[in-house]
Amino acid sequence: TLTRHLSSTTAPRDVRRLAVFGAGSMGSGIAQVAATGGIKVTMADVREDALERGMEGIKKSLARVAKKQSPDDIDGFVQRVLANIETTTNGEQAVADVDLVIEAVIEHLPLKQELFARLDKAARPDTIFASNTSSLLVQDIAQSVSPERRALFGGLHFFNPAVMMKLVEVVRTPQTNDEAYNLLLHFVDQIGKVGVKAKDVPGFIVNRLLVPYKLEAVRMLERGDASAEDIDIAMKLGAGYPMGPFELFDYVGNDVTEFVSQAWVPYADKGLLPKELVKPVPMLTKMVAEGKLGRKSGAGFYDYS
Ligand code: CAA
Repeated sequence: TLTRHLSSTTAPRDVRRLAVFGAGSMGSGIAQVAATGGIKVTMADVREDALERGMEGIKKSLARVAKKQSPDDIDGFVQRVLANIETTTNGEQAVADVDLVIEAVIEHLPLKQELFARLDKAARPDTIFASNTSSLLVQDIAQSVSPERRALFGGLHFFNPAVMMKLVEVVRTPQTNDEAYNLLLHFVDQIGKVGVKAKDVPGFIVNRLLVPYKLEAVRMLERGDASAEDIDIAMKLGAGYPMGPFELFDYVGNDVTEFVSQAWVPYADKGLLPKELVKPVPMLTKMVAEGKLGRKSGAGFYDYS
């Protein structure tokens, strides 16, 4: 798969040291995957308790993976991976000597821009920067760094749960240079995932198709065409999806999907997306307002209490 991806003949260097920003489900999942692949990872977050929660999640997930991959030595497997992960609240320190930075903090453009502007000054000149954004354009985030760094800036979009989902969308902005892009593609190979090349357009590939599909499912439910259960069964058994749209809503968090569609409104205004695609879906808006966010809140389209 490596040769399929590469657009130049020089082999990219391996990523040996990585900094991940954000210890939430995506950040900690990415840190776990990279550490499992033998990369030294520093996971950074502004909050110590977030780092602790992130590490707890990694330990639990590693134990599940170890049961399958290393059933005779579960503890040894977990310890070997954990030895590759450090945590810190000091962002500058985290990036001081890394090959790659992956940002997975909340989906707030000014926050991401401010973070990268700071890291730009603290990182080596050759460090590659990547965002795991799912709702924003990578080039908008990269506005805050120097033009030199902008050439080394791309997107690495992982999917939830990052440990299980094989895909990473490797996003190239109009400024990303070949060397940086090839390193990002190579990194995805290095950690055992499958990369696809994606342009820097709203939703890249997966969410550009998946979010409209999920919103259409709610519109179908609103119209009373079928029940949530039957729509889920239909898409699992009739289209081979691992989860139906409502199971997926509840798994990802209804607020997350709602947030993505809202974040897309400015892109629709600019003509980058069809306007009808981002029209509000009243049932979803109401559920989010009522705190019915899915599994994490105990109720969503289904009840988990
Ligand atoms: N860490 C380690 N192992 C994990 C894990 C984790 N976080 N999560 C699941 N697993 C393992 C389990 O241990 C289990 O292994 P065994 O069966 O060998 O014990 C295996 O994965 C399967 O898990 P489950 O039996 O619990 O459930 P499953 O078979 O349904 O698989 C799934 C779970 C991989 C999440 C699968 O249901 C799936 O692929 N779902 C779709 C996910 C998806 O589409 N994600 C993209 C979301 S993006 C989006 O939705 C856009 C948006 O709105 C913003």
